Amino acid sequence: MENMQANANGAGQPVQLIIRDLHASVEGKEILRGVDLTVTQGETHALMGPNGSGKSTLANVIMGHPKYQVTHGEILFKGLNILELSPDKRARLGLFLAFQYPSSVPGVTVGNFLRRALEAKRDGFDPNAPAQPSGQMPKRKGIPPAEFRKLLNEQMQLLKVDSTFVNRYINEGFSGGEKKRAEILQMAMLQPQMAILDETDSGLDIDALRVVSEGVNALRGPNLGVLIITHYQRILNYITPDHVHVMYKGRIIRSGGPDYAKELEVKGYEWLIQTVEEDVTAPTA
Ligand SMILES: Nc1ncnc2c1ncn2[C@@H]1O[C@H](COP(=O)(O)OP(=O)(O)OP(=O)(O)O)[C@@H](O)[C@H]1O
Ligand SMILES: [Mg+2]
Repeated sequence: MENMQANANGAGQPVQLIIRDLHASVEGKEILRGVDLTVTQGETHALMGPNGSGKSTLANVIMGHPKYQVTHGEILFKGLNILELSPDKRARLGLFLAFQYPSSVPGVTVGNFLRRALEAKRDGFDPNAPAQPSGQMPKRKGIPPAEFRKLLNEQMQLLKVDSTFVNRYINEGFSGGEKKRAEILQMAMLQPQMAILDETDSGLDIDALRVVSEGVNALRGPNLGVLIITHYQRILNYITPDHVHVMYKGRIIRSGGPDYAKELEVKGYEWLIQTVEEDVTAPTA
């Protein structure tokens, strides 16, 4: 049969992010110790777990942060081994990460940044393009200013973002909540097929949490896969996950259905960790 294999266009099969037995280290220390996770477009997965268990590390490794070395395992997206791709190619392919701690970029306005990012995204994915711009500006299909403004205005309204935002430098002097909103605005503009949201809810007041959640929900649909990293059940009241996973010491130790986060909130992680530690230390005879 023709076209049964997933390819870069995702033709024939749903778009999937497949992580298999992933091990990754930072500065020689192994943080991820065998992560297995598959997110299919249309699904929302929540990733929870104690501080320091490796959730942000996983997000950073998926996006190709150069600080992390993958020592074993694989990550496939649209059937491609993305570990061989530079971060910008991963983004062009349709992956998006909203950072736990977004950095500020003095001198670059939100508007300019979004325009460039969108142009690059629309430029599309070319596996053979050089990873680093070689001094020459790549030829880009520009976006007509009117079209860009219209899209930006729509998304800003949706996320209740103040219009002065666009002319400010990225995250410079932004409040915690404004930074998180700026991340979701970026997501809304880029329309990825797989979005990883790392603690997008932390630091948001109750109203902002609702607005941001509504924004994410408006983007959800059969074409978008979401991996939402969070410590709190409350955002999952707005963004109902299909699956909930618990990470501990660099592995996913348990997964459950939509209500699993509520159970975790009541019981805490201690009991779960204990059963896992017992499993690990139990003699295998
Ligand atoms: N760039 C880095 N340099 C040194 N250590 C790092 C780095 N990134 C992660 N680590 C270490 O890896 C471990 C996992 O960190 P990570 O940020 O992935 O945890 P997390 O699950 O996201 O925690 P939290 O819930 O607090 O955000 C921690 O012990 C952390 O100190
Ligand atoms: Mg983290």
